[in-house]
Amino acid sequence: MKPKLGIFDSGVGGFTVLKRVLERHGNLPCLYLGDSARVPYGEKTVSEIRVIAEEVVQWLMEKNVSIVLIACNTTNSLALDVVKRVADVPVIGLIETSVEMISEDRVGVLSTPATASSCAYGNQIKSYRPGTIVVEQGCPALVPLIESGQLSNDELPVLLMEYLKPLLDAHVESIVLGCSHYPILEPFLRKLLPKNIRLIDPAIGLARRLDKFLGIPSIPAKGPLSLANTQICVTADPGSFAARTTGLWGNCPEVELVSLRSKACFF
Ligand code: DGL
Repeated sequence: MKPKLGIFDSGVGGFTVLKRVLERHGNLPCLYLGDSARVPYGEKTVSEIRVIAEEVVQWLMEKNVSIVLIACNTTNSLALDVVKRVADVPVIGLIETSVEMISEDRVGVLSTPATASSCAYGNQIKSYRPGTIVVEQGCPALVPLIESGQLSNDELPVLLMEYLKPLLDAHVESIVLGCSHYPILEPFLRKLLPKNIRLIDPAIGLARRLDKFLGIPSIPAKGPLSLANTQICVTADPGSFAARTTGLWGNCPEVELVSLRSKACFF
């Protein structure tokens, strides 16, 4: 039987990870959970993020996934131990796989405020490559903007420049997109950044790491990416989720509304 991948995020951001996974392993069945009822995670408290992680992973386990992919850096930063405790299957995260993609001495990380204050990227990068200078920048406005689909907003370049300034001032040579929503902003970031600064999408490392867990060579998708083997579930607003992801896939996916066991409410 083919392994079933369980992938989760707070919202549409995890689709950037799903895309990298399907580019490399196009034939695998996936179950995607977007916790759209509670997006954004990045401004919640550590204990809220940990309670949510427990609930989400329990739900994935009930759906019999055989590998958990953490497509959310915020959960990865603050609740990796929770995810590993609740999942009785292998777990692959973005942060630990991203370090293998870094070769520069001065690295910037754009992330949610929760991820930035955890210093998870900085700690991981420095333990892998001691001496690396890491500048972590929390970007509170970006996930709400992406989730609302307002990317043509004139304020976006201004906001991005504000978040990039500390990284540029520190002369970083590469920037890790440390929130799975941010690869959606790559074209906007590219326009603002000098050409010599490399953008790093940790999802590429995660998709590569998956080869080892699967024990089978990657079978890249032929032709346009398809969601035929992917079940997409969200905890709120399936219609707007489908509309948002259509931009990423070019077609409208079927999105199911689900209820997690207790759906702890923090609002
Ligand atoms: N996309 C997630 C991350 O990588 C969560 C963003 C959010 O909900 O704030 O951190």
